[in-house]
This record gives sequence, structure tokens and C-alpha cells, in this order.
Amino acid sequence: MLKHCPQGIQSMSPFYPENRDQYLRWRDEKLERAATSLDDLIVEVKDPRDLSSREYGAILRRCIDNNMAIYASAPNEDPDRAIPHALARQLGLQRIDHNWLGDEDGLTSLTTNDDTDHSGYIPYSNRPIKWHTDGYYNPADRQIHGLLLHCVRSAESGGANALLDHEIAWLLLREQNPAYITALMAPDAMTIPARERNGEVLRKAETGPVFSVDQETGNLHMRYTARTRSIEWKDDEITRAAVAALADILDSDSPYIMRGRLESGMGLICNNVLHDREGFDDSPQRKRLLYRARYYDRIANTDV
Ligand SMILES: [Fe+2]
Repeated sequence: MLKHCPQGIQSMSPFYPENRDQYLRWRDEKLERAATSLDDLIVEVKDPRDLSSREYGAILRRCIDNNMAIYASAPNEDPDRAIPHALARQLGLQRIDHNWLGDEDGLTSLTTNDDTDHSGYIPYSNRPIKWHTDGYYNPADRQIHGLLLHCVRSAESGGANALLDHEIAWLLLREQNPAYITALMAPDAMTIPARERNGEVLRKAETGPVFSVDQETGNLHMRYTARTRSIEWKDDEITRAAVAALADILDSDSPYIMRGRLESGMGLICNNVLHDREGFDDSPQRKRLLYRARYYDRIANTDV
């Protein structure tokens, strides 16, 4: 762990483009440990509210190696909101992001909802969602580092996620061309325009990098959305090329992209990795419900 020595971080983190030797060492180790099958990420747990030390260790190991793990408890359709809260707390996720349209306790119920507030927002519809990290439109001081999705009930059909460790995306881009990384680390690489409704600004425009390195820990953070509307990329050749290269990686059959569906009692806990969602269909007996929680913390003890 590199904490509490910012100058050491600058010279040791593999994510600073100039640290070539550190990068090469980190790359080899990363690829050796990286999961290429969803099964490698799954940890069966008896009660997510109260993990045994073996279960905790297995989840943590996967989060260290892949920035994510999937826990699986017996299917039960238990809507207890304490489940995601308690699971998150055990992994050191404490500071929850209260986003608008979220519920009072900070959880967001992801389920189809067409009331006036929710209508028009894809997460509350059954439509597919393109690749992104969560909270990519948040201001710099409220970046999302940890993410939890807990499945109460899966859809009648569809609703699977694709997952890609954002460190792997960074690595694959750097292997193609280190200049892509530099371009996407520029503080003006990506702008999310303001969100307005009826002339009222609901969220102001946010400009920032795609990739950034935490100066205290050396960890990598990513803000990204593959949507092509409501996003402005820096208008230069290298940024355009880098964005296209990233889109190609996400569109590829890379073994590091894993796909699967969370079923009742299962959940994803991660350091805000890249993910998408396929469209889904509910039935009257089976309406998809996932709880989502976003945190300003990374999962504890997963520093690079
Ligand atoms: Fe998401």
C-alpha cells in the first residue's frame, strides 16, 4: 500500500504515464490474475448481512484482482434494504451518494417507473444502457469510487450486464498507444452538458478527465459513458482516436469482458468498473427490482 506519501505515489503508481517500469511490472501481474470468466468472480455467501471471514476474504481477493466481485446468496426475493447497506459496510463503503430520484436512505430502486419524475430516464425504463461508469456526470468532489447492485428480483427475460475492470480498459489502451492514455487524462477531455428541464438547470455542465489518479493512493478512477448524445469530447485528433479505440475495446470479444445476469439474492460489489445493461422484459408476476448504492469510497484494502 502506498498511502501517506504523495511524492512516493507520483513515482510509484503504475497509472502515471511516465512510470514505465512500474507499469510493466503491474501489467504482468494484473493480467496473470485477471478473471476471464464470470464464475471466477462469484462468491457464494450464506448471509450478505453477516459475512464469514472466509466469505469476506474471497470477496476481497476478487476485488483486489478485478476491482469487483459477485456475491450469491440463496434466491429469496427479500426486499430488505438492510442487505445492501450491511454488505457495503463490511467492505468499507460508507459515504453514500444521495442522488436525486434516489430513496431517502441513499439506495436507488432500479425498477421500471414511468411517473413524471422518472419518465425519460433510461435506468427506470426497460431499455438497454450503454457502457458507462456510474456518476460520470458528478462534480469532481463527488466522484463515485464504489458501487453496489443488489438483485431482489430479476426480470422475466433479459437485463444482463457486461462488466469490464476499468484498469484493464486502461491497460489495453496503453498497450495500443500511450498517447491515448495521456489524452484521456487531460482535465478537459470530456464535458457533460448541463441538464435542464423547462428552462431550469437541474445539474450544471461538468468537464473533467476520463482517467485520473488519486494523488493520495495512486488508484485509478474512470468517468465514462458510451452515449453519443449529451456528451462533448475534446475536439482534437488524439482525443477522437482514443475515444474510438476505447469504443472498439468495449465492442470487442475481449476475454476480459464478462457477461451475466444478477439473479435474486445476488449482487455486484465493485470499484465502479465499466458496465452496461441489456434491455429486459417484465411480466405481471415478475418485475425486475435491483437496489443500487453509490459511494465516494473505494472498497477498503483494495489500493493498488
Ligand atoms: Fe450503472
